[in-house]
Amino acid sequence: MNKTWWKECVIYQIYPRSFNDSNGDGIGDINGITGKIPYLSELGIDVIWLSPVYQSPNDDNGYDISDYRNIMDEFGTMEDFDRMLVKAHEYGIKIMMDLVVNHSSDEHQWFRESRKSKDSSYRDYYIWKKTDNGEPPTNWGAAFGGSVWEYDEQTGEYYLHLFSKKQPDLNWENPVLRNEVYEMMRFWLDKGIDGFRMDVVNFISKDTSYPQGEIREGHNYGDGSKYYMNGPRIHEFLQEMNKEALSPYDTITVGEMPGVTVEEGKLYTGKDSNELNMVFHFEHVGLGDGQYGKWDPRPWKLTELKEIFSKWQKGLEEDGWNSLYWSNHDQPRAISRWGNDSEEYRVISGKMIAACLHMMQGTPYIYQGEEIGMTNVKFTDINDYRDIETLNAYRDLTPDFLTHDEIFKGIHKRGRDNARTPVQWDASPNSGFTDGTPWINVNPNYEWINAEAVLKDEDSIFHFYKKLIQLRKQNEVIVYGTFDLIMEENEQIFAYTRTLGNEQLLVICNFSEETPDFKLPDHVRYSSKELLISNLNANENEEIENLPLKPYEARVYRLMI
Ligand code: NOJ
Repeated sequence: MNKTWWKECVIYQIYPRSFNDSNGDGIGDINGITGKIPYLSELGIDVIWLSPVYQSPNDDNGYDISDYRNIMDEFGTMEDFDRMLVKAHEYGIKIMMDLVVNHSSDEHQWFRESRKSKDSSYRDYYIWKKTDNGEPPTNWGAAFGGSVWEYDEQTGEYYLHLFSKKQPDLNWENPVLRNEVYEMMRFWLDKGIDGFRMDVVNFISKDTSYPQGEIREGHNYGDGSKYYMNGPRIHEFLQEMNKEALSPYDTITVGEMPGVTVEEGKLYTGKDSNELNMVFHFEHVGLGDGQYGKWDPRPWKLTELKEIFSKWQKGLEEDGWNSLYWSNHDQPRAISRWGNDSEEYRVISGKMIAACLHMMQGTPYIYQGEEIGMTNVKFTDINDYRDIETLNAYRDLTPDFLTHDEIFKGIHKRGRDNARTPVQWDASPNSGFTDGTPWINVNPNYEWINAEAVLKDEDSIFHFYKKLIQLRKQNEVIVYGTFDLIMEENEQIFAYTRTLGNEQLLVICNFSEETPDFKLPDHVRYSSKELLISNLNANENEEIENLPLKPYEARVYRLMI
């Protein structure tokens, strides 16, 4: 196994709009981030993944970029950015920027020029199609509702947008466009940033014959995903990007990749592929999707979750690398999704899921507020929601496909705004996030769930995360050990070993409210054991051969073989 720094680090994601507002306009900003760098350093993280901070009309909160080389006015200035970068580096924290180049904003100068005329030199920066029958070129549905094709009066052609119509897809078939992207990446790397998280980067190569998609029952549009996920030229494009923009620098890269399989994951992240360091797959976060995806979720089984993780752990063990995450700005809060956010179990289960994830092989990601134990929010009025995906789904699915109550269940469980309510810094009005009116309401539980409270309490979830990060720095087996699931069939316990030389980790996590017995399999033998961390102050000397677990209990042992 090749050893490198990005395998050994812990990454913290900042969604700037909701992180910390320094100027009272109700919107988080760059100076707000700079002010919290000592806090992040206290937590012990190594890298910040910064969701987009570029100029944007905010149709999709910055994932629609109108100028890749300037900072969004609401977030501050380039000088603010430079100061933040210097300060982060002073604290030994690296900055990984979000790279959103599957699409731009329709307000980007490239698109404004492109749509003007078929002869524009920018025309081929985007994907334009003409049809004779007045119908869109394909039946594909867009991620945020409606068709992926938008008719443009001015030139009588359709342009492709896999997301909202204000997010036209860039045409990666065009080498001039590709070079623009690489040049822009070098601009940021020359400034001193340390890498990129690449937004839906496995969508950039399309099947240029544009076939029709299959229309599933209960849907108005076809599913075109197999014609743009992991498309025909994707590896060529990523290798070219790596050669032109990344290889001269020492970077960290992660590709966001809906629909990626383990086999593809190996190709993207294998050491000889020269593409990316790691990918985000979506298999676990899609668990329990219903007919309408996240909007009508169903129960899922722990064995399904374990199977997914185990498959990725074993699949990338020899070559490639995993990224590990429970949550991000597109997902619900980790505790609400994977643990139990009731008063009784919120903290214990939050620690349990943290241990379960951080002890696996791969680079762990912490989403802002996860270390505080933040939970999902339950707004009851659709007007309190801000997310384009949520609002469009509500518009498109009710009342024909889901009732108001049905979709609200889905929104409360899985909607993206769960993760986008402001970070809860303290118990003062608006959780100390802003002196103004926040752009989205604060979760009312900020009065007792906040950073000030967890920092003070040595037994808090914050200190548990801090310890997990420290353990990673002290125990190579956490980074490089091989993974093996144990008690595979058990529906309550997620347990595994990690092995490196004669050292072994034993990770035992009870995902249930019940008290199942952990049974050590015969093949796990050891000469001595040490309890590295536990969420319930477990007794160090207890026998582990047959261990009754408390609800949501987690223990990590270091065994000498
Ligand atoms: C994935 C991003 O994480 C999400 O927030 C965004 O809406 C889409 N890509 C489109 O950029």
